[in-house]
Amino acid sequence: MAASLSPPSLRPSLRPYSARLSPPSPAALFLRPPTTGSSDHRRPLRISARSTPVMDPTLKGGAPLPAVPTVVDVDLGNRSYPIYIGSGLLDQPQLLQRHVVGKRVLVVTNTTIAPLYLEKVTEALTVGNPNVSVESVILPDGEKYKNMETLMKVFDKAIETRLDRRSTFVALGGGVIGDMCGFAAAAFLRGVNFIQIPTTLMAQVDSSVGGKTGINHPLGKNLIGAFYQPQCVLIDTDTLNTLPDRELASGIAEVVKYGLIRDPEFFRWQEKNMQSLLARDPSALAHAIKRSCENKAEVVSLDEKESGLRATLNLGHTFGHAIENGIGYGQWLHGEAVAAGTVMAVDMSHRLGWIDDTIQERVLAILQQAKLPIAPPEIMTVEKFKDVMAVDKKVADGLLRLILLKGPLGSCVFTGDYDRKALDETLRAFCKC
Ligand SMILES: NC(=O)c1ccc[n+]([C@@H]2O[C@H](COP(=O)([O-])OP(=O)(O)OC[C@H]3O[C@@H](n4cnc5c(N)ncnc54)[C@H](O)[C@@H]3O)[C@@H](O)[C@H]2O)c1
Ligand SMILES: [Zn+2]
Repeated sequence: MAASLSPPSLRPSLRPYSARLSPPSPAALFLRPPTTGSSDHRRPLRISARSTPVMDPTLKGGAPLPAVPTVVDVDLGNRSYPIYIGSGLLDQPQLLQRHVVGKRVLVVTNTTIAPLYLEKVTEALTVGNPNVSVESVILPDGEKYKNMETLMKVFDKAIETRLDRRSTFVALGGGVIGDMCGFAAAAFLRGVNFIQIPTTLMAQVDSSVGGKTGINHPLGKNLIGAFYQPQCVLIDTDTLNTLPDRELASGIAEVVKYGLIRDPEFFRWQEKNMQSLLARDPSALAHAIKRSCENKAEVVSLDEKESGLRATLNLGHTFGHAIENGIGYGQWLHGEAVAAGTVMAVDMSHRLGWIDDTIQERVLAILQQAKLPIAPPEIMTVEKFKDVMAVDKKVADGLLRLILLKGPLGSCVFTGDYDRKALDETLRAFCKC
């Protein structure tokens, strides 16, 4: 029934997405694009993860840089860019400087991150490069400031300091700063150069990659924004050392998501290594970030503007956004809401008979291990869920499409073709009224 209401381009959603990454390999992978995708997808896709030294042409004799970053490439034709991942990368100025366009840089950060990393980043941008001048704008910290008023402060600074088209905006912070700075870069003078330096696990595994930028509206999250890709993403894993535990766990919710929607091997790895991740074991974190970026890079390369496949990255997010909106932004962290939302999406998938008991149990177990919520807060009612879900961006022709698990671990669908009863039963099971 519902399938006939969906536009034809969404039909592939009725079949589990199965394109997966093979085990980490230094060689580039050539993947067959999904046969059901739009014509944009019919080009060879190259996702590569390298751990070879990045050679700096400005160094004499092409000497390798001191530490060796892992590089994951996001393949988007002439908008392709590298994601550098590693420890101590902020101490390698060449990595950043090669992506700066022009002589003027505006670092956008907040009151929490500025005292920790602004000086280091300014140094990385300017050392040995006296022609570059760095301005900074320090925004208030918090999801509740991800709005038009705060965005204006970025434009105010850029205009007051007379930045021109050949300037570079640098986002230094978590997802809130990355989304706002990216949107400002997309809009300022109709687009200036942009670099992401994500400092939360959430931003390192998800929000800094893929070019979704924007701000919230009082009536809904991320409703105003643009697709705008950065020149590079620089992930210095050392920045996680100062991140509060609760924020770390929030990022883990998105890591779990990649395993569930498309990478069962990664999910099994997480089941074995969750304690190491929570203990901030550097190599476990580096692996989780790399695999997450590879998964996200592949999805984004296949479906940059979210015509189907990219929507699968929103597993648990429709329920999760309803929680964030229903209880007020900032009460629960994004990843916490996504974790509870994932449990609800998995419950619904199970009610539909699309997954077996063990997958449901494993999802509960891994989220509990990560100390993430596995149910919405008590103040969420069925009505509250329905009200917010009715204005979700994934509603098309009055039909709410959801990302649900279907089949073996690592397979999901994005579909409006499900029995409405299952959705009602899930909402009733998780809400007191
Ligand atoms: N664009 C996308 O594709 C995408 C994807 C996922 C999430 N998001 C967005 O990301 C936002 C959530 O991002 P977040 O979880 O990073 O939240 P956040 O940006 O609010 O950061 C969380 C907190 O940690 C602090 N912080 C950041 N780095 C730190 C560090 N290294 N040490 C100490 N404190 C640090 C921040 O100041 C903040 O208080 C939401 O607005 C969400 O909509 C966007
Ligand atoms: Zn998310």
